[in-house]
Amino acid sequence: MNGFTVKHNELTAEEFLELWESVWGGGPSLEQTRLAMAHTLFRVSVYDGKKIVAMARMIGDMGLDYYIKDVVVRPEYQGRGIGRMLVGELMNFVRDHGISGTGIFVELCAMPDKIPFYQKFGFDANEAQRLKRMYQVP
Ligand SMILES: CC(C)(COP(=O)(O)OP(=O)(O)OC[C@H]1O[C@@H](n2cnc3c(N)ncnc32)[C@H](O)[C@@H]1OP(=O)(O)O)[C@@H](O)C(=O)NCCC(=O)NCCS
Repeated sequence: MNGFTVKHNELTAEEFLELWESVWGGGPSLEQTRLAMAHTLFRVSVYDGKKIVAMARMIGDMGLDYYIKDVVVRPEYQGRGIGRMLVGELMNFVRDHGISGTGIFVELCAMPDKIPFYQKFGFDANEAQRLKRMYQVP
């Protein structure tokens, strides 16, 4: 994209938290985030000069399941096609690493107001509900 730099697997925990806080406020701890970055299959980050403006990541097992996480565009950069580009980068990763000729589920969890965004890229909701529990590690 014009004027932006796209990097693969360079997103740092600090950058992740900066973007997280730009859209959702207080994020997870730096220690948790560092561990998460280290175990992410694929990280995409987008820069305007040196400023981080967007990120997305893919987690999963490489064979059967890929899961999209943390697609975030800094508010003042939204609506310029960066989100579309991020999803494209993630899907290219699946194309390049999935076993040719097989079907692979690419999943994600989205708030209702973001579902139309993902529907543009072929994602659709099924009847499954997301269950979650915040577990306090002793
Ligand atoms: C959702 C988000 C990633 C979209 O990024 P973006 O850079 O603004 O999106 P783009 O400019 O690439 O838009 C791509 C297309 O999706 C559409 N779109 C974007 N957000 C949309 C929404 N909430 N609902 C419906 N359509 C949407 C755009 O109109 C555009 O359509 P077009 O190509 O037909 O013109 C961005 O709004 C964001 O970071 N939000 C806060 C974090 C968040 O909630 N992330 C999603 C986690 S599930």
